[in-house]
Amino acid sequence: MEYGAPGMKAGRRVLTPLFVLVFLLQGVHSQTSRNKFNIAKAGHKLASPPVTLKKVGDNQVVVDNGIIDVTFSSPQGLITRIKYNGLNNVLNDQIENRGYWDVVWYKPGQVSSTDYLVGTKFDIVNQTSEQIEISFSRTFSQRGSGIPLNVDKRYIIRRGVSGIYMYAVLERLIGWPDVDMDQIRIVFKLNTTKFDFMAVSDNRQKIMPFDTDRDITKGRASPLAYKEAVHLINPQNHMLKGQVDDKYMYSVENKDNKVHGWISSDQRIGFWMITPSDEFHACGPIKQDLTSHVGPTTLSMFTSVHYAGKDMNTNYKSKEPWKKVFGPVFVYLNSASSRNLLWTDAKRQMVSEVQSWPYDFVKSVDYPLHHQRGTVKGQLFVIDRYIKNVTYLFGQFAFVGLALPGEAGSWQTENKGYQFWTRADKMGMFTIANVRPGTYSLYAWVSGFIGDYKYVRDITITPGREIDVGHIVYVPPRNGPTLWEIGQPDRTAAEFYIPDPDPTLFTKLYLNYSNPQDRFRQYGLWDRYSVLYPRNDLVFTAGVSDYKKDWFYAHVNRKAGNGTYKATTWQIKFNLKAVIQTRIYTLRIALAAASTIDLLVWVNEVDSKPLFITGLIGRDNAIARHGIHGLYKLYNIDVHGKLLRVGNNTIFLTHGRNSDSFSGVMYDYLRLEGPSGV
Ligand SMILES: *[C@@H]1O[C@H](CO)[C@@H](O)[C@H](O)[C@H]1NC(C)=O
Ligand SMILES: *[C@@H]1O[C@H](CO)[C@@H](O)[C@H](O)[C@H]1NC(C)=O
Ligand SMILES: *[C@@H]1O[C@H](CO)[C@@H](O)[C@H](O)[C@H]1NC(C)=O
Ligand SMILES: *[C@@H]1O[C@H](CO)[C@@H](O)[C@H](O)[C@H]1NC(C)=O
Ligand SMILES: *[C@@H]1O[C@H](CO)[C@@H](O)[C@H](O)[C@H]1NC(C)=O
Ligand SMILES: *[C@@H]1O[C@H](CO)[C@@H](O)[C@H](O)[C@H]1NC(C)=O
Repeated sequence: MEYGAPGMKAGRRVLTPLFVLVFLLQGVHSQTSRNKFNIAKAGHKLASPPVTLKKVGDNQVVVDNGIIDVTFSSPQGLITRIKYNGLNNVLNDQIENRGYWDVVWYKPGQVSSTDYLVGTKFDIVNQTSEQIEISFSRTFSQRGSGIPLNVDKRYIIRRGVSGIYMYAVLERLIGWPDVDMDQIRIVFKLNTTKFDFMAVSDNRQKIMPFDTDRDITKGRASPLAYKEAVHLINPQNHMLKGQVDDKYMYSVENKDNKVHGWISSDQRIGFWMITPSDEFHACGPIKQDLTSHVGPTTLSMFTSVHYAGKDMNTNYKSKEPWKKVFGPVFVYLNSASSRNLLWTDAKRQMVSEVQSWPYDFVKSVDYPLHHQRGTVKGQLFVIDRYIKNVTYLFGQFAFVGLALPGEAGSWQTENKGYQFWTRADKMGMFTIANVRPGTYSLYAWVSGFIGDYKYVRDITITPGREIDVGHIVYVPPRNGPTLWEIGQPDRTAAEFYIPDPDPTLFTKLYLNYSNPQDRFRQYGLWDRYSVLYPRNDLVFTAGVSDYKKDWFYAHVNRKAGNGTYKATTWQIKFNLKAVIQTRIYTLRIALAAASTIDLLVWVNEVDSKPLFITGLIGRDNAIARHGIHGLYKLYNIDVHGKLLRVGNNTIFLTHGRNSDSFSGVMYDYLRLEGPSGV
């Protein structure tokens, strides 16, 4: 048998023509690919030994399938060792916590702490020669001081499969104390000397610094504006000298966060976090979160306040029972002769996992199988009579999703339930499959239009049922014709001017020539405003200026020396040939992000009381964390015709708080509409 020999394991499969063929077929015939894939897997299974479990002493459980050999602390349920392809432990064996879950939580008014969801009871849920599912659980006691949560952490290892499926069922019963849970995740810390190369997408891959390169006390790095970012001044790999390291540079939107991880160039193995479904994530498909970063660290972020802040609903109330299944996610290990092959194989495995969702082998009663789930379909149209006044437009490539019932747009701060999202096709047709039974609202938004759609009725999903909502129509906010507009309504600031970084503070990966679409991920771009606009603030002239060049991506404060920052005022100048003094005009301001700002708006008379004040808004911190958007906000402001003039007019936008460098907004889109019927 060949399976015992190193090099004949998972990674080797990449190179077999059958697998390549199956992969190609999958792309072409998605209906039949599942069967073909199973045949390929079954063939492999015959050649693999059965999965076995053994207890070692009183406090370890080892599960082995001949490909990987995984050690768990028992009954705690931490992963302490993953033996693979000749490497005794792919995890960092110098530290205690190297494969674990954690939750950041607090009772209202108390300081936050981290709970590692350590189990007190070990169970074998199911054991056959084909797969073993084990559980490490604990039950909350009202007398205890820990997090009020029942925990059931599950791990599944399958015959012939090079990895570990992991999920947890977390539960709260009525009457348990109120808590906030700001973050729920899985963390892996890998062998520091072996894993050197990180990949989070096709074009975001690089040799990484060591954790010790971030050490400020040893003179390897110097501090930057916040602790997550450092300037590498004397890294062990001199190629990285002068660059910035910051884990937020490797954030990804949840919809795209399907596979990321690390490669050991020396051992030629890969360690990958594969996320086959987004259903257990919160806050919608474009919520961003961390992936992998220096450590070497690989995360599976289930929930967090990153890029959203406490606008998110993180408070779990005593009177509301709650139960949720996080995962399964799949940790995949592979081996191949080059980094490129490792990444390609990791993506292939990701596609296979996505196509196998929902998994048919998960044993928790809280995880519905395919036949226990339902489907919603329909076709979305848009009516905007000032874009096309006669017909319905297709809701082209709309994001359409189900989330807990709420207001239009509430999905972006909804953090406790399941969400199911899809993209409509170019005719607005959509199908959301494999939805867990339950009651949801149906939400949508369409790039190119402002605002949020919500279907009038709640949708109740029952097992096996398909609901067709038929033709549904979104009518975005619109009062009159467009007099001018700035940007594109797409919920990001990516189309605006993104400056080059400070030449002494950059990350090569995101320089123009290597990665033009990711230029906004550089450290310190906010401070470039003070360089580009040292004295006078930005002035944009409608019909003359070009938002791609003349609209800075973030409205921030200006450096005022001694580490202080001063508020800034931007102006939009526009010319009106006629004004109807008795009618109401509408100013639409869509924000892509906001961080502790109070935005003030004046029309023409800047010395008067502001026409509009947002009040203190935003905790998404997207400016400091190189996100090109945080939470979406739309303001619709009435502008009385009396305030406007024939000829030149000016709108003033003031950052009403001069606090720090990261406070500000990113605009998504601005538009002035005339009165209706004009
Ligand atoms: C990394 O792996 C090597 C080889 O197995 C081992 O000697 C070393 O102790 C490991 N280092 C860490 C930090 O895990
Ligand atoms: C384990 O799973 C197999 C396959 O689904 C099933 O036939 C068997 O009854 C299960 N055993 C237990 C103890 O649940
Ligand atoms: C509506 O469409 C008709 C025919 O294309 C056109 O004549 C008219 O000006 C349009 N009205 C508006 C308000 O765009
Ligand atoms: C990046 O692109 C912009 C616009 O094309 C150009 O002005 C700038 O010089 C480029 N910077 C680098 C570092 O290549
Ligand atoms: C900056 O701080 C120094 C020392 O506190 C002070 O002497 C100086 O006046 C300050 N300059 C400005 C522009 O505030
Ligand atoms: C109006 O604005 C235009 C463009 O900024 C400028 O050229 C013109 O001088 C202004 N007219 C008046 C009367 O201020």
